[in-house]
Amino acid sequence: MRMYDLIAKKRDGETLTKQEIEFIIDGFTKGEIPDYQMSAFLMAVYLKGMTNEETAQMTLAMAHSGDMVDLSAIEGIKADKHSTGGVGDKTTMVIAPIVASCGVKIAKMSGRGLGHTGGTVDKMESVPGCHTSLPQKEFFDQVNRVGISVIGQSGNLAPADKKMYALRDVTATVGCVPLIASSIMSKKLAAGSDCILLDVKTGNGAFMKTIEGSIQLAKTMVAIGEHNNRKVAALITDMDTPLGYAVGNSLEVAESMVVLKGRGPEDLKLVCRELAANMLYLAGKGSLETCKEMVEQAITSGKAFEVCKQMFAAQGGDTSVLDDCTKFKQAAYQKQVFAQESGYVASTDTEKIGISSVLLGAGRQTKEDTIDFAAGLILHKKAGDRVKKGEPLATLYTEDETKFEAAEKMFVAAYQFCQEQPKKIPLILARVTTEGVETF
Ligand code: URA
Repeated sequence: MRMYDLIAKKRDGETLTKQEIEFIIDGFTKGEIPDYQMSAFLMAVYLKGMTNEETAQMTLAMAHSGDMVDLSAIEGIKADKHSTGGVGDKTTMVIAPIVASCGVKIAKMSGRGLGHTGGTVDKMESVPGCHTSLPQKEFFDQVNRVGISVIGQSGNLAPADKKMYALRDVTATVGCVPLIASSIMSKKLAAGSDCILLDVKTGNGAFMKTIEGSIQLAKTMVAIGEHNNRKVAALITDMDTPLGYAVGNSLEVAESMVVLKGRGPEDLKLVCRELAANMLYLAGKGSLETCKEMVEQAITSGKAFEVCKQMFAAQGGDTSVLDDCTKFKQAAYQKQVFAQESGYVASTDTEKIGISSVLLGAGRQTKEDTIDFAAGLILHKKAGDRVKKGEPLATLYTEDETKFEAAEKMFVAAYQFCQEQPKKIPLILARVTTEGVETF
């Protein structure tokens, strides 16, 4: 078999066999297929697509490119979640402790920030002392003892995805259903949980910009999970606007803790509660209504917040910052951005808001960059809000004053104004299960 012929086959829109897909993934993982040929193949897939069968076969080949984690040493049902990535998306730090406090084990591997989107592992590391790299035995012991551990992806989990993702990031081949579905589901299958809830973000701040594309992605991932004997469901949630008001690592941890204490922004509370209830439902904890009540109870009793603190403490984190978020190291500089006109915020370009936060130091622009945990922004006005000229739209935070200029320019370009109050977009747009698609 020659990689050249397989690239040509996909370029011409033909269907690859299981053996051909395995040849490509195996060869690329071992370094026998060079980046330039893989880049051409990824672009051919981006343009010509894949059948569901091909996507499922590629997912399995990618999952088996490294360790397949066996979670059987952890007692009980294990549940996992995955977001396709967004801005201000801090749901894992809220949902995972809620679900664990209801008796479902969370042995979760999360990612770092990617492009304009943030990552749970970076956010967790903003808690002083918290480490997100644990040897497998300690990881399992912590889950058995505390009910939850969230760590970074282990070195050999789906290495094919790691290499392919790095290429996709720089070859404009990210937003493509077979490539996203295989990337996410290869990691989820390799990570070993019984139940997987997918949060498929849709809108201008997401990798999938349309509801149709997001539903197609969700259906593909749910089918792959079912085929591999996992319980999988997906919620399609809005990413036309950042979730909550905080964007940036310690700023987002602080906002998550407010939600775990029963307060916080309505949009974030609603999305977190729906996701947590759906995870409990998948784990067999009762009807969706019962699961929603369990979520309420976990928050109002303070149990979920306690479990969250136990998780951070077990991973070396200083939990005093979770009790009192003003104890987080504060950014050296802050600057307000003011509205230049009166009216309503018609819409925001969420990707630009994410990039503005990255420019302030909250994300990496190159692989080598270190993160400024206190950097980011707090929104004061979001889409649909009334605004008067001169009112603050946001406060920007950074350790490096020279970063304000570019970040502010990007931020201002994200806002569009209008004179009529715009219609509200639902936060949960659809639910995709093995039974079908419900739209809301
Ligand atoms: N998240 C992933 O893990 N992979 C993708 O391709 C997109 C989002």
